[in-house]
Amino acid sequence: MSTTAAAPSSQLSRAETLYLSGLALVCVAVLVRTFEGEGEPLIASLALSGFAFAASYAMIRWLGPAFIHAGLKGRDLSKLNNSHYLPECMGAICATVYILTIIVFIPFPFYKDIVVATSGGGNRDVVMNVEFVQKGRLLHKFPHNKLASFLSAIISLQSITLLGISDDLFDIRWRHKFFIPAFASIPLLVIYFVDFGVTSIVLPTFLQPYVGQELFDLGILYYGYMSAFCIFSPNSINILAGINGIEVSQSVVIALLIAFNDVLYLVTPYPHPATDSHLFSLYFLLPFLGVSLPLLVHNWYPARVFVGDTYCYFAGMVFVVVSILGHFSKTLILLLVPQIFNFVYSAPQLFGLVPCPRHRLPHFNARTGLLEPSVTKWEKDRQPRHPVIAHVLRLLAKLKLLRVKEDEQGRFEETSNFTLLNLWLVWRGPMREDALATEITLLQAALGLFGLFVRHRLALLIFKEDNLSFIGGVV
Ligand code: UD1
Ligand code: MG
Repeated sequence: MSTTAAAPSSQLSRAETLYLSGLALVCVAVLVRTFEGEGEPLIASLALSGFAFAASYAMIRWLGPAFIHAGLKGRDLSKLNNSHYLPECMGAICATVYILTIIVFIPFPFYKDIVVATSGGGNRDVVMNVEFVQKGRLLHKFPHNKLASFLSAIISLQSITLLGISDDLFDIRWRHKFFIPAFASIPLLVIYFVDFGVTSIVLPTFLQPYVGQELFDLGILYYGYMSAFCIFSPNSINILAGINGIEVSQSVVIALLIAFNDVLYLVTPYPHPATDSHLFSLYFLLPFLGVSLPLLVHNWYPARVFVGDTYCYFAGMVFVVVSILGHFSKTLILLLVPQIFNFVYSAPQLFGLVPCPRHRLPHFNARTGLLEPSVTKWEKDRQPRHPVIAHVLRLLAKLKLLRVKEDEQGRFEETSNFTLLNLWLVWRGPMREDALATEITLLQAALGLFGLFVRHRLALLIFKEDNLSFIGGVV
């Protein structure tokens, strides 16, 4: 039977208050201690992420009623008793805490540079030697490019958060919001161009004899590809949605997998040229996990809050930011296989070949308490526009990639909605909402781990080297 979500309480329990205050205090203490050394950015990032966890957790709870009052609310469509509203758009809290955390973090990775730039000991009172200042050596040492990476990331993330909040408020049409993430990516692309600029890809060894070179330069197309990725990533998370917890759990898994990949570059037995960009990625992923985990706690079955489009867009953009500025945008593709599949599979409905209802989330059977594939109904006089579409639908049904119901005259009555969640239910049969979320999350983790394995091990079958073990190329 389905569990009915209780009306959410906005108060923290005594135990929660105790744990969160304890965590926040420990994090502040660790943060203060980092100043005794050289800023220790990774430790500072961990401490700030812990603080962000506590802040998001408490604010998700406290601000729920205010969001409902402001009209940001939704009904849980897969529950027996769904008469009460849950706060929607809680991702706005996470995105805000996240952006502020990154802003507070900025001085830490530059601590050494700031100290050096102020006459050697961080002491601004010491008068600097004239010849020294004229040479300008010390001031030029400040890594403005690194600072620019942080600032461009913040601009992109703020823009996408603005889009998400607007979408949650006004339900903006697809055609109006489609290109906005691409505009939001411009600061990232400028920094990529100035700071790295690599637009060539390593060709698989079997293609090299035909092309006559090892690298193939995509030039401006590479920037087009990165912009397209900015549009794809946030939207792909938003459409793999509709059951409690799934938006956040897939994002947490992707973030953990990218972080795992980053750590591989930090523990190489020799200094690796990509260490800095992977550290940059970790600085953005740790606070992301910090704000996402409390949201997951509240959004997991039975959900007490909804994450809103804000969270989906924001999460997708975090992945784009770290992968573009960390120079591993192709590796990210391997971690988004379920999202890519869901998008390609959804295409017939997204592009209007098959009717697309406002909600495609699985159907809740109130009698059994289980989820079943939701369906699109076909009117007798509004059958597929072209016979090819009808053939494809029947072929998909034969391949067990769709559930189709036809009448005696061979007219379509209903087809299951084209989403990965519905397809999983076609394959696995009716199941509880939390079981479906768990299985899809595990699928995401398993495919992602396999993707990384392919990236670092099987790639050696078609590339000469993996860039974990060689210097200067991008696979
Ligand atoms: C996307 C999907 C839509 C899906 C919706 C669910 C596409 C093109 N769009 O639309 O098919 O139905 O996400 O998020 O694929 N809700 C629940 N339980 C949940 C999560 C959401 O009942 O676990 C409902 C709530 O009523 C909530 C609403 O979905 O208020 C949020 O939908 P919204 O995010 O606005 O939908 P879209 O992103 O436009
Ligand atoms: Mg949504």
